[in-house]
Amino acid sequence: MTHTVNTPPEALTKGDFTEVAEPFQLFAEWLADATEKEINDPNAVAVATVDDSGLPNVRMVLLKDFDERGFVFYTNLESAKGRELLSAGKAAMCFHWKSLRRQVRVRGLVTQVSPEEADEYYKSRPRGSRIGAWASKQSRPLESRFALEKEVARYTAKFGIGDIPRPDHWSGLRIVPVEIEFWHDRPFRLHDRVKFTRASEGEAWTKARLYP
Ligand SMILES: Cc1cc2nc3c(=O)[nH]c(=O)nc-3n(C[C@H](O)[C@H](O)[C@H](O)COP(=O)(O)O)c2cc1C
Repeated sequence: MTHTVNTPPEALTKGDFTEVAEPFQLFAEWLADATEKEINDPNAVAVATVDDSGLPNVRMVLLKDFDERGFVFYTNLESAKGRELLSAGKAAMCFHWKSLRRQVRVRGLVTQVSPEEADEYYKSRPRGSRIGAWASKQSRPLESRFALEKEVARYTAKFGIGDIPRPDHWSGLRIVPVEIEFWHDRPFRLHDRVKFTRASEGEAWTKARLYP
């Protein structure tokens, strides 16, 4: 692979992002920029966990909600990630927006969204996805594709044209950040990095610039 000097795209965020005082508004602006610029899935984010033996694990999910309470995605709570997140109670996330040459890293504590919040999002999903939440024993061994299709058929028949309730094992997890770091590519690898840290939710953020 050849290395060329990356020229950052024109800054979309108004002003110098390293000057901002708090991270949530900046994250919202960067996500909006990504939504405009990325070819797909601007809300894709890697979620890192650790299993009971201490071995790290990481996979992509889609961010479905974000506000001052934290970063929400939905999953099967009995999946590897579900078990690891609920057991450790801590996680890290990493967004990378290639077209913007930006990265946001988040570290924090894990909470479950309320049943009402999960129900509301579940209801907004296509019927096939709601059936899928019942049919997939996510992360557990699957004998064959046919076995999955049989499960889909079974639940399709079971629910017919009626309501499909949200399974108890399927819900949202919220990462409540204690650290949020913003990174933006600059020439010659002299990137800008700004890290916001707080002791816990509700506390004030401390900001520090980091060497690239
Ligand atoms: C772009 C992208 C988005 C994804 N979004 C989700 C998601 O929102 N929820 C989810 O459970 N899995 C999602 N997946 C699948 C996960 O990466 C993973 O394969 C699955 O959740 C099982 O992970 P686990 O065994 O570590 O629990 C996504 C995969 C990709 C590539």
